[in-house]
Amino acid sequence: MRHLLDPTDFSINETGELIRRAEEIIANPSAVADACRGKILATLFFEPSTRTRLSFESAMISMGGHVIGFAGAELSSAAKGESVADTIRMVSCYADICVMRHPKEGAALVAAKNSSIPVINAGDGGHQHPSQTLTDLMTIHSLKKRLNGLTVGFCGDLKFGRTVHSLFRALTLYPDNRFILVSPRELQMPEYVYRADSRAIACVEFGNLEDVIGKMDILYMTRVQRERFFNEADYVRLKDSYILTKEKLDHAKPDLAVLHPLPRVNEIAVEVDKDDRAKYFEQARNGKFIRMALIEKLLKPETEA
Ligand code: NCD
Repeated sequence: MRHLLDPTDFSINETGELIRRAEEIIANPSAVADACRGKILATLFFEPSTRTRLSFESAMISMGGHVIGFAGAELSSAAKGESVADTIRMVSCYADICVMRHPKEGAALVAAKNSSIPVINAGDGGHQHPSQTLTDLMTIHSLKKRLNGLTVGFCGDLKFGRTVHSLFRALTLYPDNRFILVSPRELQMPEYVYRADSRAIACVEFGNLEDVIGKMDILYMTRVQRERFFNEADYVRLKDSYILTKEKLDHAKPDLAVLHPLPRVNEIAVEVDKDDRAKYFEQARNGKFIRMALIEKLLKPETEA
């Protein structure tokens, strides 16, 4: 049985196969209309979500499966003090696969250790969010036809942004990617992320958005993660540190792709949506199809997978 807890749980080959499979599903969705008939997906969301939960649910329903779950810790027995380990033992009796988002780093790992069904980490605190990474990789691949030899800028809250941590880790597995990290000093990417792989060290650069945007093939914007701050005053001081505007995009390459995991707060001006380089809504759409491919893979018996 496989889980998806960390972006490096799948090999480069497996990720490539998932992307190809998602593209096949887009081209011919009726071919998988019965792929999950009789199967149940549990969505356990202890934190808010729009895209991730709904895209997983839509993915499962589109493959003929069923969905159970809760959206909000207050709606589950966690509100009565139940542990993640006990919750997952119960869920293992009612579902064939589960997706979990939790405010604590490592919660998905605890779940996996106590689960008899595959667990997908849909975000554990400010740590990792690997199914978003699959969405991001699929989007980059569809736009650039490759996942190597790219200059990728990450801008915003690189400290608490779990989507950043996961995508950065995944992209270090492909050769010749360069990274430009743009963030306030207090929100820099933690060393444990960018020093995890020695291949990444040589090609990390820090800078101001205006000065470095012209070098980028991909710009991954992120919101400042208010819910991870200990005090509101710090959030208010830092929240508008970087706002991508039309003027800033004038300095960028004509084939830059601007990505954002969404939700956006203020960090991309709405006027940017009309620019051909804004790819974040296309990215959100891809999320459903890569998750169909992911569910299909994790539900396959080990011998076939
Ligand atoms: C992200 C998350 O939950 O980490 N959202 C998402 O899944 N697309 C990004 C965010 O909340 O800023």
